Amino acid sequence: MSSSSIIRTFWWSVLFVAVSSVAQNPTTSSIPTQIPGQNAILMGAAWYPEQWPESRWEDDLKLMEAANLKVVRIAEFAWSRMEPSEGHYDLDWLERAISLAAKHHIVSVVGTPTATPPAWLTQKYPDVLRVESNGQRVTHGNRAHASATSPRYREFCRQIVEKMAVRFGHNPNVVGWQIDNEYGYALMSYDDEARKQFQDWLAAKYKTLDNLNNHWTTQYWSEAYDNWSEIPIPVGGHNPALMLEWKRFITRTWTDYQQNQIDVIRKHADPRQFITGNLMGFFDGFDHYPITESLTFASWDDYVGSGHVDPAFNGLTHDLTRGFKRENFWVMETQPGAVNWHAVNNFLNRGEARAMAWQAIAHGADDVNYWQWRSALNGQEQYHGTLVGPDGTPVPFYDEVSQAAREFAQVESAFRDTRVVSQVALLYSYDSHWAIQFQKHTEKYNDNALLKSYYAALRPRAQSVDVVSAYAPLDGYKLVVAPSLNVLPKDLADHLLEYVKNGGHLVLGPRSGMKDEFNALLTQRQPGFLVDALGGRVEQYYALEKDVPASGSWGNGNASIWAEQLKSSATDDEILLKYGKSNGWLDDQPAAISRPYGKGRITYIATILDDKLMAAAADWMIQKSGVALAFGKVPDGVEASRRIGGGKQVYVLINYADDPRHVNLSHPMQLLLENKRGDAVDLPRYGVAVLLDK
Ligand code: GLA
Repeated sequence: MSSSSIIRTFWWSVLFVAVSSVAQNPTTSSIPTQIPGQNAILMGAAWYPEQWPESRWEDDLKLMEAANLKVVRIAEFAWSRMEPSEGHYDLDWLERAISLAAKHHIVSVVGTPTATPPAWLTQKYPDVLRVESNGQRVTHGNRAHASATSPRYREFCRQIVEKMAVRFGHNPNVVGWQIDNEYGYALMSYDDEARKQFQDWLAAKYKTLDNLNNHWTTQYWSEAYDNWSEIPIPVGGHNPALMLEWKRFITRTWTDYQQNQIDVIRKHADPRQFITGNLMGFFDGFDHYPITESLTFASWDDYVGSGHVDPAFNGLTHDLTRGFKRENFWVMETQPGAVNWHAVNNFLNRGEARAMAWQAIAHGADDVNYWQWRSALNGQEQYHGTLVGPDGTPVPFYDEVSQAAREFAQVESAFRDTRVVSQVALLYSYDSHWAIQFQKHTEKYNDNALLKSYYAALRPRAQSVDVVSAYAPLDGYKLVVAPSLNVLPKDLADHLLEYVKNGGHLVLGPRSGMKDEFNALLTQRQPGFLVDALGGRVEQYYALEKDVPASGSWGNGNASIWAEQLKSSATDDEILLKYGKSNGWLDDQPAAISRPYGKGRITYIATILDDKLMAAAADWMIQKSGVALAFGKVPDGVEASRRIGGGKQVYVLINYADDPRHVNLSHPMQLLLENKRGDAVDLPRYGVAVLLDK
């Protein structure tokens, strides 16, 4: 073993011990997603008692209890019921609903209703309604119609949330809060108020206009500003610096919008009540790392939409969500068979939703809630999937949910105090994502698709991958891959270099290290501040019209979409891949190089590899970095995952292949769903095994 791998192994064991020694007491988990006094993993549904006569509530709750559902999320759209006219509040009905749910052993997550201001509010104070980028004020009747920058709206939000927090902040049956609903899809108001706030925010950040003009290169196209009030909100194409700052301002707006509510909840509620927000996977309206900072944990709404679950994409999105706070998370909403908002709202196959529920747990979720329990009889979502039909009796899908919920209850204790611990991390950066989106250079370049192709290759070879902010601590990882780290300022380069110096293996993908934090071109060639460490640089980049052959130590194949011509200047650089005959510029030029640096290694892959080359590259990365499988060998189509903690290792195996699969275990384990010990499992299509190894 080399000294660098000894050091990596040392850090790995430190992390392993730290993680596996978290709270051993089964009733007081230190994991914020696991609620004291409740099962470690839970299942629930979105329930809207305000839409039904009170006489019906108990029937619904009995059916939920019979299905082993333990959680309802309620009230997130019920503002007009809770404040029927200005300053007149009625929360009694909600208190009765929460108590009745508790009678059926169901805890409540209360949503703040700020995605749907009532009609009296928007009519009396029309300035709370958003103005669209075309200058039109939106009308009442949908949702997310309020302006997140309106001080008046924020005050109304604060008042309703305060009433709710005072009433339910000490309610033992309320376990936590959801802020707003999907953060209004980050929609902004394009009114004078928002523009002034944006300008003030820029002034606070840049201090002087000279500074701003300099970083934005406003000598270009006569963009120079001599007054803060001249700076526009970008609409359509604009200066990339302005566009990136607008995205950051949107992030800041929604962070403040949520903090306004968090502050008032925290003032009145027991600290045991969590505060979360339901995010939307790869939705990119704002930067999710700052947004989730002041939440107890992250949650997301996991919808397949059309077609069927893509386990790699769904797994990646779970891992992205887990990475927001580098902690377990909840699936606040998921699809009960079908949605109503896609081109073809097909139903998931029988067994597919159960597999999805288990995949969520396998990737670090501790709760899965279906949206929704029963359709409102009218309203925009009449066709959406439910667990109960308009007649109030279960639909066939209810049985699949009951089965999964029963299984959760049966094996929950194994998951107590467990988390996902990975040796591999993919780095995600909203700044880089946006910078590329603003100027794709080729419409075919999709940085999220590239992230997914790395994930799809690395995940089965490690069986555990984290997706974390580029600024996250990297000590515990043997391999860190940044597929498109376009914005790579000095402080980030230093952070990554520290990781490499200490023995880590950093792999950069194309377009890395091109921009500074102002979205300006760096005055070094790519990868910018990492050129010296790499001992090589990008000479020129090309958007490809067609595939280019590439060959080297990963075999032969094709490069597509984007190709950078690398030049290596260090004697200890290894050229792993070269382009074949192409546009003349690329012919026979390096496409991937790698160099030992400090106690670690830095690798640059300058193009998009086809699946075969990507698989070989992933094999090389895994082997070179000493990454071990989290579980062990499994047949194709089976996803293996691991959670560790409380002195246990729990594995979840899911078969997504069309045919049955047989998996041999390396040694006998407890097969929790079958309640027996065994050394092999047979999985039908969508079959799930939960294995405890202690
Ligand atoms: C979103 C919303 C829900 C509901 C579902 C339908 O996730 O949060 O209120 O509209 O979509 O799929």
